[in-house]
Amino acid sequence: MSTKNKLSKENILQHLKSDINVFCFDTIDSTNNEAKRRTDTLSPTPTLFVANHQSAGRGRLGRSFYSPDSTGLYMSLLLQTNSKFSNIVTLTTATAVCVAKALEDLCNIQPQIKWVNDVYLHDKKICGILCEAITDENTCTIEGIVIGIGVNISTTDFPDELKTIAASVGQDIDKAVLCAKISDNIINVFKNIEDKSYIDEYKNRCMVLGKEITYTENGISKTATAIDIDKNGGLVIKTESGVKTLSTGEITVRLKND
Ligand code: BTN
Repeated sequence: MSTKNKLSKENILQHLKSDINVFCFDTIDSTNNEAKRRTDTLSPTPTLFVANHQSAGRGRLGRSFYSPDSTGLYMSLLLQTNSKFSNIVTLTTATAVCVAKALEDLCNIQPQIKWVNDVYLHDKKICGILCEAITDENTCTIEGIVIGIGVNISTTDFPDELKTIAASVGQDIDKAVLCAKISDNIINVFKNIEDKSYIDEYKNRCMVLGKEITYTENGISKTATAIDIDKNGGLVIKTESGVKTLSTGEITVRLKND
């Protein structure tokens, strides 16, 4: 597998349908970090930061994201939010659907989503999503959102701790096309983020529904059955003590026997 193509601003722009400013780096610490450093670019026109390699790629819950040169897609979209925007969870959920649909269209594969926002193929993680808010210090309102996406495209040399849980798309796809497709999908969903139509698309691809899960709450590991996704992207679970809904941030979910 060659995954020959290095990304460039020109080849991304060639495939983008939406109006987006693009910054492309050969190597950078983290495209999310760069987006957060460049809040001067916050405007109604979204900004895309892409790199062929990240030296300090970041994941959720303080983890790192393995980002070797050229074998993955590492991108962050910086979007300006209006004063009504409050729910970063919905955007994270919607982004997982946008990535899954782009991969379905381009690669003819059927990725699944592990709640909250990891994209899986054949029970291994091929993509992680890290959304971060940009907050106005004076008003304490969210003025922007960074949507960071890392897709393993042809990576094979995962470090030992990832070998059993991570995988790649495994096709020699054009990263610029994938990057543009994911970006366009997100821009289109973001325009109507309040209509929640992506929730059904999320459910159709959700690999945890009907399964037993373990989750950690306040440091204690508990088991439950995942039964639904609510309209805000929360995971509805059935526990010994009744039905409850988990929201992101406070818990981690693992399929039993993971
Ligand atoms: C996770 O799996 O926990 C989320 C991983 C998110 C990785 C992407 S790669 C592009 C962007 N830059 C980062 O440093 N992280 C996100």
